[in-house]
Amino acid sequence: MSERLQCISCNREYDTNAIRYTCDCGGLLSVERDARHIDRSIFDARRGARSPVNASGVWRFREAVLSVDTNDIVTHPEGATRLYERDGLLFKHEGENPTGSFKDRGMTVAMTQAKRLGATAVACASTGNTSASLAAYAAQAGLRAVVFVPSGKISAGKLAQTLAYGALVLQVRGDFDVAMTLVRAACDHLGIYLVNSINPFRIEGQKTIVWELLQDLEWQAPDWIVVPAGNLGNTSAFGKALLEARRYGWIDRIPRLASIQAEGANPFFQGFETSFAERFRVQAETVASAIRIGDPVSWDRAVTAIRATNGVVEQVTDEELMAAKRTIDRMGIGCEPASATTLAGVRKLRASGVMHENERIVCVLTGHVLKDTDAVMKNVSSEQIVEIDPTVEAVRHVLG
Ligand code: F0G
Repeated sequence: MSERLQCISCNREYDTNAIRYTCDCGGLLSVERDARHIDRSIFDARRGARSPVNASGVWRFREAVLSVDTNDIVTHPEGATRLYERDGLLFKHEGENPTGSFKDRGMTVAMTQAKRLGATAVACASTGNTSASLAAYAAQAGLRAVVFVPSGKISAGKLAQTLAYGALVLQVRGDFDVAMTLVRAACDHLGIYLVNSINPFRIEGQKTIVWELLQDLEWQAPDWIVVPAGNLGNTSAFGKALLEARRYGWIDRIPRLASIQAEGANPFFQGFETSFAERFRVQAETVASAIRIGDPVSWDRAVTAIRATNGVVEQVTDEELMAAKRTIDRMGIGCEPASATTLAGVRKLRASGVMHENERIVCVLTGHVLKDTDAVMKNVSSEQIVEIDPTVEAVRHVLG
């Protein structure tokens, strides 16, 4: 099956063996293939398989992800996450991936491509989850891992995880957007392969979040898919996944996308409010450190995704997203703050009449509750955690 890189702005094409992330015109690149129809029954037949490539919730869909010899695939395996139904909503928990976030779905593809291209070192800028995922997959692939993080701005758990898997951590004096600019320049100058979501192969892997949830629903499209929005890789991937699912004949209607930003990091929301007449950049600040991003790189393809799915972009305050996190945590499911923008967004979009009670809504939870324990501990009441003397009397006293 022929695959190529195609510019989303000017349509210029490049070979997939080219090491490049943008077109000469500056446009973002997309992996495109000629297939018109792919029979989805092959994916259903692979479900529950034991071989890693078929057990992977990414490579199960490989005909529409990356054309590669299965022996060359770098897979943990990943994906195959649960879909929970609670309080009339569906939650696809991508925090159940091997490194605790959805990033593993894109990373397995980018790392497979890195090996194919003969890369010896890989890098990314990160708010913590991409770096942990990169570190884990680079360890498996035997590649040198270098991550650029905003100094002092990522959760302790994510930093520890990244270090544990063996990556070199460069703590950049600046925010995520500064680290992103630096890593792009460093990769260009130093011959390191960049695996941020600007890399189109990351997007190919992240499409499978949507395909797997459609498969979970026996290919009955929901009304809405709700996703947190930071650097806009996922929003882009979800739009591409839905268009391809329709083109390949897997679904007969396209669900609407709802991308949710934190109010303090809301350039995409501002864009949506002006029908994307211009590109916004902000100085980002939010308790949800994963999406503390002011200048998202995948802007153009995310605009396409929102337009093509009749989608919406909403913003929520830190208070709203932390209240939603508490609800998700208390369901016994749990997630990190950025993921809770989904439920907070649904609450807001229902209140404003954009979403309706009887609609089928899937919220994508992007990261595990243990990714940010500070966010939990800061909000625990002194009634829930009590230090006591080691006596039954003390226990009785606390139980009341
Ligand atoms: N949720 C979580 C838990 C994330 O870690 C991220 C992004 C997002 C949502 C936003 O997804 O960027 O595709 O719009 N984290 C990146 C990182 C930036 O470095 O880990 P997006």
